[in-house]
Amino acid sequence: MRLQKYIALCGVASRRAAERLIESGRVTVNGDLVDYMGCEVDENADEVTVDGKVIRPEKRLYYIALNKPKNYVTTVSDDLGRPTVMELVGDIDARIYPVGRLDFDTSGLLIMTNDGGFANAVTHPSRKVDKVYIARINRQLEKDELMRLKRGVEIDGRVTAPAGAEALRGKVPEVKITIHEGRNRQVRKMLEAVGVEVLGLKRIAVGGVTLGNLPEGKWRRLSDAEINKLKGSGKK
Ligand code: URA
Repeated sequence: MRLQKYIALCGVASRRAAERLIESGRVTVNGDLVDYMGCEVDENADEVTVDGKVIRPEKRLYYIALNKPKNYVTTVSDDLGRPTVMELVGDIDARIYPVGRLDFDTSGLLIMTNDGGFANAVTHPSRKVDKVYIARINRQLEKDELMRLKRGVEIDGRVTAPAGAEALRGKVPEVKITIHEGRNRQVRKMLEAVGVEVLGLKRIAVGGVTLGNLPEGKWRRLSDAEINKLKGSGKK
């Protein structure tokens, strides 16, 4: 791209003002003074300085909610060649990545960002961020089974932390499970531990941010209020 455009992208000056910086001999590219118009730079390879200081493009931070369909992996690439969620956010011009994970066969709310601090804050176990799931199951749960889920059940040799478990009164048997841990296939294993079969699993909320009516396979930006909620959520 044009040098003056790059300088503007770095937030140093407007394009016009950048032209004046160039003309007045204050700009170098890879150590060489550039005081003429028409110089092109490669933003990924060239080093540009203004008044002796290296400048870099401003990093725009993205915070999005994706409604992940099932049969997508939540990794950036997949050795088995399965579809990845990255394919659903290809129209975003930044290297965003999933915050936490959802199983290949789970659908629903996946937060994605390019803000590493934010990703850590949301996924760190000490933050105890609540995640809410709806599981379609093969039969209604008994009261005592719901109690067991709430108190904790043993999976992989360790009892789960207290959770929310609420039977939903729909046409098909469903249960709403709220957990703050993030153990491998945790919700499926919890339900298997009380003897029901999981027919489908969907995440509907993370730290107070809800999926709402976002269509499957689509994404939306989080609002400032939602971002702040996630940054601060789970403080207990
Ligand atoms: N629990 C599961 O079993 N699967 C998920 O994807 C998330 C939570």
